[in-house]
Amino acid sequence: MSSTMNIRRTAGALGAEILGVDLSQDLPDDAIVAIRQALLDYQVIFFRNQALRPERQVAFGKRFGPLNVHPYVAGMAGHPEVMEVVKEPEDRINFGGGWHSDMSFLERPAIGSILYAVETPAFGGDTLFASQAAAFEALSPGLQKTLEGLNAIHSAAREYSSEGHSAQKRKSMAIAEADGLAGEYRHPMVLTHPETGRKALYVNPAFTIRIDGWKVRESKALLDYLFEHCRYEGFTCRFSWEAGSVAFWDNRSVWHFALNDYPGQRRHMRRVTVDPWPTQADRPQARRAESVS
Ligand code: SIN
Repeated sequence: MSSTMNIRRTAGALGAEILGVDLSQDLPDDAIVAIRQALLDYQVIFFRNQALRPERQVAFGKRFGPLNVHPYVAGMAGHPEVMEVVKEPEDRINFGGGWHSDMSFLERPAIGSILYAVETPAFGGDTLFASQAAAFEALSPGLQKTLEGLNAIHSAAREYSSEGHSAQKRKSMAIAEADGLAGEYRHPMVLTHPETGRKALYVNPAFTIRIDGWKVRESKALLDYLFEHCRYEGFTCRFSWEAGSVAFWDNRSVWHFALNDYPGQRRHMRRVTVDPWPTQADRPQARRAESVS
């Protein structure tokens, strides 16, 4: 770990705060390696008192992988990879106000999300996180084995439809409806983390629409059970934001939920979302290893 960085766990299942790092700087490789390791160890990591202009948030995010441009949510002018997550005082609906894993509706889902708080309400607006690795580990060996043999279908069609939560019209964010455009993608119901080998459940109430090869009724029964199980309080942690706070979570093993408990107040965040490297060889560490061998 970089010599000035300090890590403080914030909850039993997941979550740690990292102190002593300025994310606006062009950090040395060993600091990036330490941050990546903390993300793998704690699944969601938090930083406070940061001052991240959009271009610095982009630069930081790109150290972990290529950045996603959201297919339905308009990015910032001049920075299409930066999504402004805003709730104005007159808005009733917030973005991300249900348990989900970002971008599981894509063929190659995002590996991480980095959210920076620009303006926070005087109270409320916390984000909850739930470890899907802990959720998997708490199941019986019998159900674990069954789930490991199954795939589920994910789609943006429901959530980003005219009826869906995410696409509800509001002044604060330009969100397109996915009607008729969203594809369906199959992912394993249990993901083995490519970097840690730890297994995690990979289904979520927003984007998982059925179990592959099962009838809708059959799927619903098992998915409803899992969705209830996965949000058990013992698998969660909660982060209270201040302007300048940053959360970086691993979408491969974490659900999150943006609380909507601050009526009449403004909340303004900026998110960059990290995609997987196109191939293992594209990872900077892999490239360095090649050049020394
Ligand atoms: C999101 O789902 O990415 C938004 C989370 C938040 O605003 O807390």
